[in-house]
Amino acid sequence: MTTPAKNSKTQYLMGALTFLGCYVVMLFVVFLMMVISDPSGWMTYMVDNYSKVLSLIVSIFFLFSVVYFYYFFEDPASLTKTNSILLIFTMLIISVIVSYAFGEFIHIYFRPVAVFALLALFLTSRREALFLNFIFSFVMFVIDLFTNTIPGTDINSEVYSSFLLSFIGGTLAVFLAGKVKTRGGLLLTGVFVALPTALVVLLFNIPTVTHNWIDYVSAVGFRTMSCIVSAILALAFMPFFEWAFNRLTVFRLRELTSTDAALLVRLKTEAPGTFNHSLIVAQLAESCAVAIGENAELARTAAYYHDVGKLKEPTNFTENLNPGEYDVHVDITPELSADIIRSHAQNGYDLLIANRLPKIIADVAREHHGTLPIKYFYDKAIRYSGDADLKDFSYRGPIPQSKIAAIIMIADAAEAATRAMADRTPEKVEAVCRTIIEERMDLGQFEECDITMRELTVIRSTLVDTLSGVHHHRVQYPAIQFGRDRQVFKKEEPDE
Ligand SMILES: [Fe+2]
Ligand SMILES: [Fe+2]
Repeated sequence: MTTPAKNSKTQYLMGALTFLGCYVVMLFVVFLMMVISDPSGWMTYMVDNYSKVLSLIVSIFFLFSVVYFYYFFEDPASLTKTNSILLIFTMLIISVIVSYAFGEFIHIYFRPVAVFALLALFLTSRREALFLNFIFSFVMFVIDLFTNTIPGTDINSEVYSSFLLSFIGGTLAVFLAGKVKTRGGLLLTGVFVALPTALVVLLFNIPTVTHNWIDYVSAVGFRTMSCIVSAILALAFMPFFEWAFNRLTVFRLRELTSTDAALLVRLKTEAPGTFNHSLIVAQLAESCAVAIGENAELARTAAYYHDVGKLKEPTNFTENLNPGEYDVHVDITPELSADIIRSHAQNGYDLLIANRLPKIIADVAREHHGTLPIKYFYDKAIRYSGDADLKDFSYRGPIPQSKIAAIIMIADAAEAATRAMADRTPEKVEAVCRTIIEERMDLGQFEECDITMRELTVIRSTLVDTLSGVHHHRVQYPAIQFGRDRQVFKKEEPDE
């Protein structure tokens, strides 16, 4: 049997090999660039400039090593995930190819300098995007410096300005697009990045203005357009990366929570009770995530989908039964009832994975009841037979592995408990939430998700605030009804 230590060693080795594989692919891409730039003379170029080519190979190796060491010190766990490594280098290699193609076939200043930074921002994190953009700028710089990819005589000036513009444009894009949540907003970022980078070109090319003002104007124009093109290309590539690497972007989260998302439409029509419950849990989870600094969009999306496992047989769950409708649990043993109820966690996971929803959302569906006992049927079994094994009446887990899963576990229980309460004063809601959290702590449900006591306290007070907003007391409407001519014609009992 493989031990965990051996497992992680193998994963690290796989990660390192993936790095090496990506490096070889990158070199192959650069080689192709040389061939394309000079189809007839690439062989002569390589023989004549073998020391330059060697420098290029070594330089790119060092740049890739810097990326490896960045993750080694900043986020070692990511070095075991070949999927994440492949994502980073696929983004890098595609961006290099696109930048090269635009520079080679249109204009050096038409290179979409911010495309890599924007992709990295939405598909990894802001911190990684800033660092990786620096690496991207350097890779382009090294390629330009050591190959004959730039036509024209004044190679050095264009190479240096290109490096500077990649770095400035990408960094600005990361800062400006940090809070963007819509595709339109991303396009606007392209416009805003265009202005300062155009200014850089304007200043950088002042020496040429006197003898070739057409070149000067076209450089500025191309640069302005290239930033907008960067945003358009980032938008075009994003769905591919989301799909191929099962990644979450703010855009995908928005799509997953839109009213026409396939599974939500099914939930709404086939299990309306569960759908309504999920809407409230989403509202609670979002507030809690904001309060403890977690990803609110992700919490909201995960909450929408946490109970989709109930779609397998919606009427097995009381919230989907109309008053007086047949309840299957009346006629079956408590053991069988518990089995049906607990299966919704695993069914949800399976359904979400089958529909290619992000793994983290499927994980939340499987973990949101942890290993908690199903009290109602355990109690029923005790009453029927006097004895029952708690294991037979508990969810199979795993317990929450992320703070988002822990938030949804608490919000789910808080919603269900307060829905049934007749008197929802803040004091009573607070007592219920306190019991829910303490009970789950006693049962060790938060032991694998590094949520802190302080965060649990913040979640409790947020739930009390939000639940008093969700289940607010309704105003008693006057018991009268108006007819034509605005005359009171009927007094009615207020509806509940
Ligand atoms: Fe559930
Ligand atoms: Fe639920």
